[in-house]
Amino acid sequence: MRYILPVFVASAVDAIHSVSVVSSNAYTCNAVSGVDVAFASDEKSITASFPPIALTVEAPAHGYPGGNSSVGCGATVEFEDWPTGVRFAISGVTWHTGRLNLTKGNLLHSLRAKVDLVVEHETNTYPLHYPIVKNYASATLLDVDVDPALSDFQGKYEFSTKNPRPYWSTCFNGYLANTTKISFQLGGSSNGGGTSQPGWSMDLGLIWESCYAPNETIWGQKVIRGWESCTYRETNSTIKRSKALYPMQ
Ligand SMILES: *[C@@H]1O[C@H](CO)[C@@H](O)[C@H](O)[C@H]1NC(C)=O
Ligand SMILES: *[C@@H]1O[C@H](CO)[C@@H](O)[C@H](O)[C@H]1NC(C)=O
Ligand SMILES: *[C@@H]1O[C@H](CO)[C@@H](O)[C@H](O)[C@H]1NC(C)=O
Ligand SMILES: *[C@@H]1O[C@H](CO)[C@@H](O)[C@H](O)[C@H]1NC(C)=O
Ligand SMILES: *[C@@H]1O[C@H](CO)[C@@H](O)[C@H](O)[C@H]1NC(C)=O
Repeated sequence: MRYILPVFVASAVDAIHSVSVVSSNAYTCNAVSGVDVAFASDEKSITASFPPIALTVEAPAHGYPGGNSSVGCGATVEFEDWPTGVRFAISGVTWHTGRLNLTKGNLLHSLRAKVDLVVEHETNTYPLHYPIVKNYASATLLDVDVDPALSDFQGKYEFSTKNPRPYWSTCFNGYLANTTKISFQLGGSSNGGGTSQPGWSMDLGLIWESCYAPNETIWGQKVIRGWESCTYRETNSTIKRSKALYPMQ
């Protein structure tokens, strides 16, 4: 379906240096400073760090006895630029935390990571008129939930797993006025309690290849054409929804 250039173009990957984080919004956690996202200098990984979050024991509430522990955070980062003619996939993830404290009665039984890529394309930029119509495409690049079965542990901790279903990003065409967002979600749970110092992060291993950029918009697990204008219409109950959903692989 997609045409892949057989030769890896090293200079195209060098252009990833122009990628920058323009905004970040934390959700599902009160991470005041949100997320820090950084590419490794060789572009072989991207690290999403959540400095304030800690594994904490759940308090009893509303008949729920509490006592298990959890940690979780998610943030969406918008990028203003991408190199042209390359795409990436996530090969695996390594979770890190500074000081984990699990007694014999505590069992870390779940570590989770999810990464979604969203690309929005303006379709009627020239000449500009309203409503601005945007097409929306998204895909889950990583979605794992693993059981490290860890107990009776004190100290610095990391755990790695491969991505069982790597999914390629779109083949970026480098358009500045289009929006590229990546959301990073991290989670963990343990039975019977357990704590950590604040600070959890995940390193996402990246694989890159050259690809056919002009077909940038032909991508996504979830594609909504006329997404923005559709959002506008949905607020107006007298106009019928015109949203269409096309699963595309
Ligand atoms: C690009 O997309 C067009 C329209 O779907 C398709 O006809 C064409 O074969 C694609 N080209 C490549 C090189 O993938
Ligand atoms: C704690 O976790 C265990 C295993 O997941 C579960 O069976 C138990 O119901 C949990 N306790 C509470 C209070 O949620
Ligand atoms: C680890 O947790 C246990 C149980 O909550 C606590 O008694 C102990 O002091 C903690 N150890 C450290 C190094 O924080
Ligand atoms: C946004 O992307 C689409 C599809 O690649 C392209 O046709 C359009 O020109 C881009 N818009 C701008 C302002 O670059
Ligand atoms: C519905 O859309 C019409 C036309 O754009 C507008 O005049 C009207 O105020 C809208 N109604 C609501 C409830 O938003």
